[in-house]
Amino acid sequence: MCGIIGYIGNRKAVPVLLYGLQRLEYRGYDSAGIAVIDREEDKIIVEKQVGKIKDLQEKLWNKKIEGNIGLGHSRWATHGEPTIENAHPHTSKSGTIAIVHNGIIENYLELKKELEEKGYKFRSQTDTEVVAHLIEEFYNGNLFETILNVVKKLKGAYALGIISSYEPDKIIAVKKGSPLVIGVGKDENFIASDIPAVLEYTKDFIILEDDEIAVITKDNVEVYDINGNKIKKDILHVNWDISAAEKAGYKHFMQKEIFEQPRTVADTISGFSSQINEDLYNTVVNADRIYIIACGTSYHAGLVGKFWIEKFAKIPVEVDYASEYRYRDKIINDKTVIIGISQSGETADTRFALIDAQKEGAKTIGIVNVVGSSLSREADYTLYTYCGPEIGVAATKTFTAQLIVLLLFALELGLKKNTITKDLYEDLQQKILSIPSKIEKILLKEKSIKDIAYKYMNASDFLFLGRNINYPIALEGALKLKEISYIHAEGYPAGEMKHGPIALIDDKLPVVALAPMDKFYEKMISNIQEVKARKGKLIAVATEGDENIKELVDDIIYIPKTEDELYPILTVVPLQLLSYHIATLLGKDVDQPRNLAKTVTVE
Ligand code: F6R
Repeated sequence: MCGIIGYIGNRKAVPVLLYGLQRLEYRGYDSAGIAVIDREEDKIIVEKQVGKIKDLQEKLWNKKIEGNIGLGHSRWATHGEPTIENAHPHTSKSGTIAIVHNGIIENYLELKKELEEKGYKFRSQTDTEVVAHLIEEFYNGNLFETILNVVKKLKGAYALGIISSYEPDKIIAVKKGSPLVIGVGKDENFIASDIPAVLEYTKDFIILEDDEIAVITKDNVEVYDINGNKIKKDILHVNWDISAAEKAGYKHFMQKEIFEQPRTVADTISGFSSQINEDLYNTVVNADRIYIIACGTSYHAGLVGKFWIEKFAKIPVEVDYASEYRYRDKIINDKTVIIGISQSGETADTRFALIDAQKEGAKTIGIVNVVGSSLSREADYTLYTYCGPEIGVAATKTFTAQLIVLLLFALELGLKKNTITKDLYEDLQQKILSIPSKIEKILLKEKSIKDIAYKYMNASDFLFLGRNINYPIALEGALKLKEISYIHAEGYPAGEMKHGPIALIDDKLPVVALAPMDKFYEKMISNIQEVKARKGKLIAVATEGDENIKELVDDIIYIPKTEDELYPILTVVPLQLLSYHIATLLGKDVDQPRNLAKTVTVE
């Protein structure tokens, strides 16, 4: 969703805000703006632009904005089109209050009506503008107190950054439902939607919780609860390297993140065991049912996880889209375990579905990448993936890391429950350790995958087929392709094709068949024959050494041999590269595809 940033200190605010906005652009990128308190006149100067951060940067090029306190915002439209009027920061009638907001004020129409009756004129169609006017309307000479009163009137989700020329020595930040961190520096402080936005300046952070409000001056940060009581907050020191948030010579973040997978998979393997404890195991070992809830790519990881948990730990697993699960009539008892998977840890659908189930008595586990994110604090237990920041909107390295966590967790549960032998456990652990080098081998095939991408880039539809544990990878391959290339694509269980989708096949339809040499190989070959008989164009992902398949398909991407159960962690990698290259050949913006946002903090 939107990204927010704020700075107070001795530096000029504009470059710090623009730098942070560039880092946050992946969260939203249809318009952007800044508000800075002018040093000489204590007046708020606001500049906004439709388009990307670079468009805002160009607009600001020749402007002299001298101020050391300011806010910035990168927008992903929810209410109102991407226009200058709708871009943030929004200001109050007199221009004395400026705010940036991430989230949705659900009762804004009601509040807007009340304000209009008092004579306020609205300049935008956003839900946010009401907050600026409310603060002005109720300002009582104390900004902090006024904001405490105003937020009590708001329903919905918000991370708010607020400055005022009445009190030009502070930023006030409030959080409910949307993420907000405070970067703590020396004689300077920051607010941001996420850690990488200000990693250049500090590695010390305070993570705001829901219903907390912070008063941030140049040399102090004070945090209060919603009733105005002071709270003591811990400082989280992160050891992320700033280069993790740079492209490091790659053309796009997505490409870099695909190539980081040997390392992120290895880091996630080595970081796994220290995160688990007896209490967590006992909770899950005694579970009578596990529900995995997630969205998008994380949901696909959950689908693979179901195979592993059912196979190794013999616990029934249901996987559901979080947005669907939340509103189902849930069957929950004290032996129900919910696993919420979310790279960002901020996806509203996943968080709220997990919280609702928790309230009904379920035990909850989050599988999360972003340290300190909301889900990691809301779940009873958290298992982290160790990927560092993922900036490309399309999830890649976090997907393979989520798979690793699910696989290792399933194996540990199996061992604990005695549903697998120690020998099998040890054998698979060994094979898992060789996954990073196998991914490396696949990445070496980038050039030939690009050639395949070139051959099929003008197709208007794609079909991805897989069976059993590779079926979710077919879904993931289709999602990757459609979200970054805008080509229509569907993933299907190969055996289901004859019940409908086979009607789509003609000599123009590329069909990507996941056909590793596992126990479904023969059946997959039959499905490939069915496509070939109808003249479909076949691209196979097959195991090195499989010569037979050459006669059946038009193009092959070979992956190294591994155990049947481990194939999904390999078969997905060529699909990531295929989508990446089709999209870049088509000239699409792969890191920031249209209409999407990296972190979806609205329902
Ligand atoms: C796809 C993609 C999205 C996310 C989904 C969930 O490439 O990135 O489908 O997977 O929005 O996001 P998280 O995992 O942050 O909850």
